[in-house]
Amino acid sequence: MEPLIELKQLSTLFNSAGDYYAAVDEVSLSIGNNETVAIVGESGCGKSALALAIMGLHDERTTRITGEISFQGEPLLQQSLAQLNRLRGDAISLVFQDPLTALNPLMTVGQQIAENLQLHTKLTGEAIKQRVYQLLEQVGLPQPQRLYQQYPHELSGGMRQRVVIAIAIVNNPALIIADEPTTALDVTIQAQILTLLQTIKADYQSSVLLITHDLGVVAEMADRVAVMYAGQIVELATVDALFKTPHHPYTRSLFASMPQFNTPQSQLRVIEGAVPSLAAVDRQACRFAPRIPWLPAHAHESNPPLREVSPGHYVRCTCWRTFHFREEEGNADVIHTAQ
Ligand SMILES: Nc1ncnc2c1ncn2[C@@H]1O[C@H](COP(=O)(O)OP(=O)(O)O)[C@@H](O)[C@H]1O
Ligand code: SF4
Ligand SMILES: [Mg+2]
Repeated sequence: MEPLIELKQLSTLFNSAGDYYAAVDEVSLSIGNNETVAIVGESGCGKSALALAIMGLHDERTTRITGEISFQGEPLLQQSLAQLNRLRGDAISLVFQDPLTALNPLMTVGQQIAENLQLHTKLTGEAIKQRVYQLLEQVGLPQPQRLYQQYPHELSGGMRQRVVIAIAIVNNPALIIADEPTTALDVTIQAQILTLLQTIKADYQSSVLLITHDLGVVAEMADRVAVMYAGQIVELATVDALFKTPHHPYTRSLFASMPQFNTPQSQLRVIEGAVPSLAAVDRQACRFAPRIPWLPAHAHESNPPLREVSPGHYVRCTCWRTFHFREEEGNADVIHTAQ
């Protein structure tokens, strides 16, 4: 079946002192109908830049997008601004990390939802108001008449995120992109918002691109997961496969840093270091090599491609099979056997 959206070699190039560098570097990924795909990776690896490129929300003065995006069989990057504006908030909608910045502080909650209904539906007058009440109830907000008149600052963070979700679903979106939708919220509220997203997905039969740095959220929500490192996908698999047999050393290090997922396969010490500055990255080398300095240089493949190592499981590392774990030492380490 044709995927809902397909990214082919999508890159986001930011201008830095006259030079362009790739914050998203030739990412290829598809999302099926009614599928939830998670993108997971540390801060700065290019997750939000990817979401903005799909939405066409990048700053055209400083950013270049290359590659292809096909949405419901139509090329997205070639669309005019008017066509894109119709798609945004309609067939594709975005839920940001921080609901306060997504909402207009000078408009009431009701006005903001109504405005989107005017833009994206044929409803008018009283029908809009009734639909706003309905949407507020659907996202679990009580007393919709009262809430209609309230301003964002009068609401809690969790309530604000529910309002953002109400705006996102005004016209039955085929794809919801949720960029760290719970990161700014209290732990107790996070689970409620995730449950709401699940319900919305089921009600509207939407697909979801869920961006997160939290593997717990991935386990709960996603069907498939792409692990991103320094602008590239380094591993792509179903959630089951990734959690059972994480292959890439970076993925295993992510698991090792979260004790609840410390399975035998993931027993690998937390690999030290940080995501490299994307402006300084050596595009001809393996970007993860500096974080495994104990391997001799010849052991690393230069710029390994994303290879399918079992059906549907892709990994960007030639030597993943040769990693061994010295579990008996407790603090498992990674060693490399001669090839
Ligand atoms: N508008 C911009 N101009 C230049 N560089 C940017 C811009 N937005 C993000 N970046 C850089 O691109 C990289 C990826 O950022 P981002 O997509 O926000 O990462 P993530 O969402 O994974 O934390 C970072 O190095 C960030 O500094
Ligand atoms: S090539 Fe080397 S540094 Fe790169 S992922 Fe494989 S083992 Fe790691
Ligand atoms: Mg981000």
